[in-house]
Amino acid sequence: MDSNKPHIIPLVKIADRRGNLAVWQTGQSLPFDMCRAYWISDAPAGSRRYGHAYYTNAEVIVALSGSIEVSTEIAGEISHFTLSSPDKGLYIPPMTWREIYNFSTNAVTLVMASTLYDEVDYIRDKTQFDQLISDGQQ
Ligand code: TYD
Repeated sequence: MDSNKPHIIPLVKIADRRGNLAVWQTGQSLPFDMCRAYWISDAPAGSRRYGHAYYTNAEVIVALSGSIEVSTEIAGEISHFTLSSPDKGLYIPPMTWREIYNFSTNAVTLVMASTLYDEVDYIRDKTQFDQLISDGQQ
């Protein structure tokens, strides 16, 4: 697996009839140390978030409950992922355009991030993102 591309990471899962438990722990074959976590709840069914990329922040997205779809674009390569399992994370490297869409009813989405929130780290304009990628490939 090319760790510089978006890919699914199996999280450690402790299966139990009383309720399954999944773990993210620093140093356990994960691509970065978590610095921040945020979660998205109460998204209307079928809704879509705004797309964006980050200069330096990396993320792992987990559908804790329900399901979501995520599209990613890195260096011109577009991929689509469906997340519906709380023990699978989608790794998103920096400089990846990503959009989360098609939230199911009652979806709860956890995002674990490698950096503190910083608006300056965002690229919110797709044209600007495309230009940065094309400049980087010169
Ligand atoms: P944003 O990351 O822009 O999400 P989306 O592109 O899906 O709308 O976040 C939405 C708002 O929340 C934006 O005003 C920034 C704010 N925010 C924080 O204050 N801290 C955070 O850690 C995050 C992720 C967002």
